[in-house]
Amino acid sequence: MGASNSSEKSAKTMNWDNLGFGLTPTDYMFVMKTSGDGCFTEGRLTRYKSIDISPSAGIFNYGQGLFEGAKAYRRADGHIQLFRIEENARRMKMGADRLCMPCPSIAQFTDAVKKTVLANRHWVPPAGKGSLYLRPLLFGSGPVLGIGPAPEYSFVIFASPIGNWYKAGASAMNLLVDRNVSRAAPGGCGGIKSITNYAPVFEVVKKAKAQGYADVLFLDATTGKNIEEVSSCNIFIVKNNVLSTPATQGTILPGITRRSIIEIATDFGYKVEEREVPLEHALDADEVFCSGTAVGITHVASITYQEKKVEYKTGEGTMSDKLRIALTGIQTGSAQDKKGWTV
Ligand code: COI
Repeated sequence: MGASNSSEKSAKTMNWDNLGFGLTPTDYMFVMKTSGDGCFTEGRLTRYKSIDISPSAGIFNYGQGLFEGAKAYRRADGHIQLFRIEENARRMKMGADRLCMPCPSIAQFTDAVKKTVLANRHWVPPAGKGSLYLRPLLFGSGPVLGIGPAPEYSFVIFASPIGNWYKAGASAMNLLVDRNVSRAAPGGCGGIKSITNYAPVFEVVKKAKAQGYADVLFLDATTGKNIEEVSSCNIFIVKNNVLSTPATQGTILPGITRRSIIEIATDFGYKVEEREVPLEHALDADEVFCSGTAVGITHVASITYQEKKVEYKTGEGTMSDKLRIALTGIQTGSAQDKKGWTV
């Protein structure tokens, strides 16, 4: 399916040099609803528009919802490629099981993503200028009042061209450790991409931003001693050429970028540890970086904890940069994909 002439024109008026991480509505979205038997059967592309949904929908009342994030990249030869999209489908299934929702199959999910990208192909930025961000959503759209799973579910994908997540772009960010707010607790939903994981940190992140920090680094809710996640991404530290990241034990999102970095670093011959990472190890590290679909790999310039600011190596020559170049090369098609991660 192709975009209409008018959409081609509006995509053509885009200034691809000034993309940030914000919504630019594109032409089409994908919608699929469960049928009478509670299963997802067939979805379709529609024009991008508001959704008609009851105020008693499960998502509004009990937060029964998940989202995913993925990117489509335009390669230098003009073709468009997706990165490890089946992993998004698998992660959504894991979250759907936890939140008691039916989920599209991996084939349905990947097919829907491809259709959404093709329909919005004029909105995929030129090579090197950004990507088309894809936001698959799964939520209880049927009416419910007694607490429990909704009677009907919707799977929706919308898309937006985006550039860098942080204003400073690929350069480094400054993080603030906040001991007073936890992002996730053992037994909770930190390990899935529940919609409910994000708004609870808005306030603390907003305060940190007002003080000039890019984001907040959260500690574990039990001991308050170990680093866990930044509001929107995973975190890695490098010390003496060893790469460490907090193990995913239910409170940390199993990031697809995170997993890819671990695999690339292992291939490069680095020692990689998934473990408890005490804050003191992070404060003593040589390098720190964040990872995620939206942030990619972004260097951390400093972490501030109790008024003390610790600074790290960033930029060329660092392990973080070597990993960033290798990963983005595969994602954007400028390097050979020996892993079979792209389609
Ligand atoms: C992503 O990295 O794609 C995410 O889903 C994080 C989100 C808060 C932007």
